[in-house]
Amino acid sequence: MQLVTAVIQPEKAGAVKQALQDLGVRGMTISQVAGMGRQAGHTETYRGAKVQSDTVDKVRIEVLAHDEDLDGVIEAIVAAAHTGNIGDGKIWAVPVTQVVRVRTGEHGPDAID
Ligand SMILES: Nc1ncnc2c1ncn2[C@@H]1O[C@H](COP(=O)(O)OP(=O)(O)OP(=O)(O)O)[C@@H](O)[C@H]1O
Ligand SMILES: [Mg+2]
Repeated sequence: MQLVTAVIQPEKAGAVKQALQDLGVRGMTISQVAGMGRQAGHTETYRGAKVQSDTVDKVRIEVLAHDEDLDGVIEAIVAAAHTGNIGDGKIWAVPVTQVVRVRTGEHGPDAID
């Protein structure tokens, strides 16, 4: 089991969510976050706007995936989020040792979808 985290441009959140649903993903967590990449936010701020912070608004999408689905999930996110501009986002995956569906008590891969 894997946890895929994608931090993307907010305007791409809908497309990424749809792409994941098209893959059959049913559960995901979507959060509004403040991010900083290698530009530290500077070149992503609007010219002339007063800079309150060196972070930029991003959306974080977290999705649990079966190991065999990992590459497909990542590629779907990339395809939906890519524009070629700086700040397009970053995706990473970490192994997950346990998942539990509270209602049923299912543990492990059965609890993912
Ligand atoms: N090394 C990192 N650790 C944790 N979060 C990161 C890291 N790099 C980027 N992020 C998160 O991902 C968001 C998007 O990153 P971003 O697309 O700007 O990456 P980048 O490495 O700066 O690439 P680019 O040059 O294309 O902008 C950041 O705003 C931040 O929330
Ligand atoms: Mg960046």
